[in-house]
Amino acid sequence: MLQALRSVRPFTHTRAAAFRPIRIAKMTISTNPPVKLNDPSLWITNPSFLDGQWTALPQHETFDITNPATGELIGKLPDMTVADTRDAIAAADKAFKTFSKTSPQQRANILENFYRLTLENKEDLATLITLENGKSKTDATVEAGFSAGFLQWNAGEALRLFGKVIPSAFPNTKSWTQIEPVGVVAALCPWNFPPGMVARKVAAALAVGCTSVIKVPAETPFSVLAFVELARRAGVPPGVIQIVTTDKHLVGIGEELCTNPLVKKVSFTGSTRIGKLLMQHASGTLKHLSMELGGNAPLIIFEDADIDIAVKGTLVAKFRCSGQTCVCANRIYVHESIYDKYSAALAAAVDKLVVGDGSQDGVNMGPLVHARAVEKCQSHVDDAVKRGAKILTKPRPKREGKLANGNFFDPVVLGDAPQDCLIADEETFGPVAALIKFKTEEEAIRLANNTDMGLAAYFYTKNQARTFRVADQLQAGMVGVNSTSISHPTMPFGGFKESGFGKEGGPDSILDYVQLKTVTVNIE
Ligand code: SIN
Repeated sequence: MLQALRSVRPFTHTRAAAFRPIRIAKMTISTNPPVKLNDPSLWITNPSFLDGQWTALPQHETFDITNPATGELIGKLPDMTVADTRDAIAAADKAFKTFSKTSPQQRANILENFYRLTLENKEDLATLITLENGKSKTDATVEAGFSAGFLQWNAGEALRLFGKVIPSAFPNTKSWTQIEPVGVVAALCPWNFPPGMVARKVAAALAVGCTSVIKVPAETPFSVLAFVELARRAGVPPGVIQIVTTDKHLVGIGEELCTNPLVKKVSFTGSTRIGKLLMQHASGTLKHLSMELGGNAPLIIFEDADIDIAVKGTLVAKFRCSGQTCVCANRIYVHESIYDKYSAALAAAVDKLVVGDGSQDGVNMGPLVHARAVEKCQSHVDDAVKRGAKILTKPRPKREGKLANGNFFDPVVLGDAPQDCLIADEETFGPVAALIKFKTEEEAIRLANNTDMGLAAYFYTKNQARTFRVADQLQAGMVGVNSTSISHPTMPFGGFKESGFGKEGGPDSILDYVQLKTVTVNIE
């Protein structure tokens, strides 16, 4: 590792001299994390990072971060302001002037270091993710590896980005294209995959020589700060990654990030409603945009599906991370001829899911992130039941002790959900599986596409012709056939329709962070 760090040291140190701290304060990193970490210095509570060092912001109000499994306070962070955001943007713009001139090899080295450090600290990252997001240890560990994957993928991408020589149409001239980083990137990141979503955006930005200002999710900041600390250790030069932690000033900060002329690109993951608002703000300065927005994924179980495989896939597509992913199946359409078999098998499998504090071994599903998420799930269940749906899963005992204060919502399978229930129309973002019967393939496709959203869609069939036919007709950016594993750093992730645009991950995602310049030279 030392060797790896040495390889980036000359670059980091000579460049560091060019970055002057904007705010000078004592460096104080708390060494008292509320959970056991292998490396307690990954617990960062002083999130100003303007000069590439963690510095305190003592004059700021703070906001609380709580453990969703118990309601207990995890820690407090400064509620940074619009003025702090402007400072962060200015520092990122200054850093861009030198970072954009680095070679692809230098950036690939940094990304590889960052990748290795993320893998080495995977357990600590997972512990922090579970502590503040609530997801199970297994889901959190997968996320830590997923975050590392974006660093590895983009380290490779950094080396394979080049323009073309174009045979000139004009006599005595030469023309070529060259690829240039777009500039300062504002990365507005959600709480459901805290380092995962930061990695998706920042790894691509680093690969091409962009600098970033990360709006850290208020609910889950500590795992993001730990990830940024790993970036610092990996040799990311001062100023290249900026962070803003906030709760109360979120709206003003979002607006600043989308209107400040120094920001050239906004990459947002979150709801369609907020995405539209940010686009309006960003239109004034015509920023490049990537919008990974809401989903309302259909999952179709055809009459020729392998039911065991379909049930296993449904557990992942619906209940992974307690149903809090944008690609979660929201509407499950089941052919009437296999409905009884599938619904009984799914309810039995869901009854076996262990719900509890995600940090405990054997727990499959943790709490939801907010109390209001619990209310939304309950309202979707109540609405469906009022319209005739039946709860197929068994009731579970009330939680006691510390967990009685957690944001838990026990997983539910709703049978015979009617087409006009709220869930058919609106993303639940929680562990509620609504089963709706259908009769024909044409009907299933029509129902699946009957939404403004188009992020993911899934179906199960053993019929090869149907596989191609249905995959072609589903209006979604990602389609899983007999599989719900549709998300990986090597695969383009992003939606159709009002689920947004721009792809994250995969071979073309890096192009969202660059611009193409055509140069024509008269050689007479
Ligand atoms: C999400 O963006 O919510 C889903 C992330 C993933 O599964 O990769």
